[in-house]
Amino acid sequence: MNGIAYQLEPLRGLDGLTTRVQEAPTPGPHQVVVRVRATSLERRDLMLIAGTYPVKARPGVVPLVDGVGEVIAVGPEVARAALGDRVMSTYFVGWNEGPQTQELSSQQYGATHDGWLATYVVLEKDSVVQVPPHLTDAEAASLTCAGLVAWAGVTKPVPVGPGDTVLTVGTGPVGLFAVQHAKVLGARVISITSSPDKGERLRKLGADEVIDRNEIPDWEQAVLGLTGGLGAQVVVEAVGMLTLPKSLAATAYNGQVSLIGAFPAPAGRPAGDPLGGKYIALRRVAVGSRTDLELMNRTWSEHEVRPVIDRVFPFEEAVDAYRYFEDGDPFGKVVISIP
Ligand SMILES: NC(=O)c1ccc[n+]([C@@H]2O[C@H](COP(=O)([O-])OP(=O)(O)OC[C@H]3O[C@@H](n4cnc5c(N)ncnc54)[C@H](OP(=O)(O)O)[C@@H]3O)[C@@H](O)[C@H]2O)c1
Repeated sequence: MNGIAYQLEPLRGLDGLTTRVQEAPTPGPHQVVVRVRATSLERRDLMLIAGTYPVKARPGVVPLVDGVGEVIAVGPEVARAALGDRVMSTYFVGWNEGPQTQELSSQQYGATHDGWLATYVVLEKDSVVQVPPHLTDAEAASLTCAGLVAWAGVTKPVPVGPGDTVLTVGTGPVGLFAVQHAKVLGARVISITSSPDKGERLRKLGADEVIDRNEIPDWEQAVLGLTGGLGAQVVVEAVGMLTLPKSLAATAYNGQVSLIGAFPAPAGRPAGDPLGGKYIALRRVAVGSRTDLELMNRTWSEHEVRPVIDRVFPFEEAVDAYRYFEDGDPFGKVVISIP
């Protein structure tokens, strides 16, 4: 049966997001066809429209990389999925395990390969990942990008655990997932946010301490105060260059900053030793491999953790979902359900 797909013409703003009829696809020998049930938005999806993402969107590509659906057709060479399986996909088309390479980074669903904002998506067999069964469709459609990069931020190269303090900076989906992952792994969490309301919600999510950056602009000093002057062992920097100097100042000796956020630094910031003379590892993190995604899913299944959903939009209001995501200051994922 025919479906509907959104398609993206980059550099035309939301006017570049239009719909077309999508014929029910037939899988190639190494492919799987999924009937999509839900998908969700990421910051990168706005950057792909604006042309500011490092990978360029193929004109006419079906956008979005997070999603969940049911396998309805499999090619003859596919062993990873069977008809009826509830699945998601990796972020990168070919990064299954081992270290990331520049070449692997360049192939992405919703950018170079058709993504999830459609009735059907065709996945390469090695990209298919089973979904944690305890999650609803909206929840399962939230994990692939922000969920996994936050997981990498607290588990690579060594997972955090009891006795560690994790500092999260920013309460977009990456920051929220980082709080949840760190708590599941047994760490203490300190979170930076911008309002008492978000602070309260962070505490409910598991954050042990919350610092309001509007009330306490020198929040890095407050983190040092809360850690006996030592700082956090791991900082999940989900804002970017804007807050990086403070994050570095709040990091413990031999600690690590997982640099995930892409907000640029203000112009004219003075140079100097950005690490403040400390022995700190600064890792730029880009999502993760299929193996990473499977390990995260297993951990979330074991602990029955659920992502934070801000709002679910119907398929026909996908453009409103983009608008809300950009301007609405959501707390949690913005999801689009597919009928
Ligand atoms: N490398 C990767 O693989 C990867 C994957 C996903 C996302 N990202 C990047 O990670 C970043 C976070 O993405 P996201 O989807 O979680 O969130 P987001 O929607 O971009 O929100 C980021 C949060 O940062 C905080 N913030 C904004 N301006 C700030 C400022 N001037 N100072 C301090 N904090 C500020 C806000 O939280 P408060 O109001 O609570 O302070 C905001 O909710 C984005 O830059 C995104 O592009 C990277």
